[in-house]
Amino acid sequence: MDPKQMVHMNQGQEETSYARNSSIQNAAQNRMKPLIEAAIVDVCSNTSTLSCGKVVIMDLGCSSGPNAVALVSITLEATHSHFLQLQQPPPEVCVLLNDLPYNDFNVVVKSLVPLRKMNEPVVVTGVVPGSFYERLFPGGSLHLICSSNILNWLSKAPRDLMMNQIPAYDIDEHVRRERLTVVAGAYARQFRKDFTLFLELRAKELVPKGRMVVSLAGRRSDELINESSHVWGTVAQILAIMASEYMGLPLKS
Ligand SMILES: C[S@@+](CC[C@H](N)C(=O)[O-])C[C@H]1O[C@@H](n2cnc3c(N)ncnc32)[C@H](O)[C@@H]1O
Repeated sequence: MDPKQMVHMNQGQEETSYARNSSIQNAAQNRMKPLIEAAIVDVCSNTSTLSCGKVVIMDLGCSSGPNAVALVSITLEATHSHFLQLQQPPPEVCVLLNDLPYNDFNVVVKSLVPLRKMNEPVVVTGVVPGSFYERLFPGGSLHLICSSNILNWLSKAPRDLMMNQIPAYDIDEHVRRERLTVVAGAYARQFRKDFTLFLELRAKELVPKGRMVVSLAGRRSDELINESSHVWGTVAQILAIMASEYMGLPLKS
């Protein structure tokens, strides 16, 4: 398997797991609630959705733990209350969760069980291992795609930096400052390429008039670096040290 498909958040539910260390990401998910609710109303008001009587919802890069089901729970509640208001029975809903194959899907599958009871009569749930930089679904099959905190994961490190062995973050501050424009430019171009591909793939998978709600932390390029950006500098430094230590170790077979 391609090594980049083997990356994953810390598995399980122990102290250092993603499941127990993802409250900041969860806050971002909660901020998406009104957008998801509006998207569900749009999708459910679409005559072709109503006539086929089912809604297929997908979360990309779900990870594991409570956040894995946070967005789809919002969509189920929104669907339920929309049809309650209309005094009509809710449609059949299919909820799918995607992540890379080494994600802790054992934990995810257990959190899917309560969801099945949320939107009776029918909720079908499933997991879809694979990269969102590839096609995951047949054309025209998804009504709503949502995702949070995933688009900062690029498909690969920029090729020109790799070829010249330039790291994203050089521990040497002087070298880092000198290369800042080159490195930032290379990552910006890679992001643009990846995001374009992501949009093209999802456009094929969505039904006509389907909706997509995604969130991504970032700042405008003309915005000054603030205190929280400095925090990311420290995080980058720690990650750079960890990466260099990791590269020095023999890879496990
Ligand atoms: C920071 S976590 C976000 C998890 C969850 N969406 C949240 O908001 O808490 C990013 C997740 O994206 C997944 N991921 C990264 N690249 C991916 C890809 N190309 N395809 C599918 N999942 C990917 C990672 O494995 C990880 O679980």
